[in-house]
Amino acid sequence: MAVSIAGRACRLRQWFGSDAEALVPLANDPYIARYLSHVFPQPYTRADADRWIRAQGLAETVGQFAIEVGGELAGGVGFHIGSGERVGTASIGYWLGRRFWGKGVMTEAVQIATQWAFDTLRVRRVWANVMGPNIGSSRVLEKAGYALEGRMNAAICDRRGMIHDEFIYGRMRPN
Ligand SMILES: CC(C)(COP(=O)(O)OP(=O)(O)OC[C@H]1O[C@@H](n2cnc3c(N)ncnc32)[C@H](O)[C@@H]1OP(=O)(O)O)[C@@H](O)C(=O)NCCC(=O)NCCS
Repeated sequence: MAVSIAGRACRLRQWFGSDAEALVPLANDPYIARYLSHVFPQPYTRADADRWIRAQGLAETVGQFAIEVGGELAGGVGFHIGSGERVGTASIGYWLGRRFWGKGVMTEAVQIATQWAFDTLRVRRVWANVMGPNIGSSRVLEKAGYALEGRMNAAICDRRGMIHDEFIYGRMRPN
């Protein structure tokens, strides 16, 4: 799946084997992993990067994009496509290297990726779950047109063992 979608602040494209080297120092950062699912490795090693790149192209990694800023790898955004009782839906996840934070990059990346999911996957619903203290992520979703749909009390344990509420955000395909 060769995809390249350019925005004002960033570009989304497929992952390349040549991304592995730049991926490790970007992703190997506890501030990035802090409020991510524990499936995101931390520390993040070259073996993790190679495994991620190798997985691209498999059915379960459809809809995974590298985020480029100024021609440089900056992070990732992607979908977990629902099946069974969740058919027709996809959940979105995203992260950005710390030096790219605070410039509107992820707001744009989530907007572009969500539009791609509606147009290409034809899902009726895209949703995200956010750990309570991750205010930046909640703000990104709100700016990208997602609505706060629910709050699950004490649903999440972060990597340091702290318990947090979890917020559920959703956006529906308009047509
Ligand atoms: C959360 C994250 C994706 C934000 O990306 P970003 O590109 O810095 O976000 P943007 O620049 O598009 O900011 C969007 C809004 O969020 C606000 N924001 C961003 N980080 C914030 C923070 N830590 N605290 C409070 N507000 C924050 C911005 O001010 C902006 O709001 P505004 O326009 O009203 O000022 C980024 O910090 C990140 O990758 N964190 C680690 C991984 C992660 O948590 N992913 C999400 C898992 S659910």
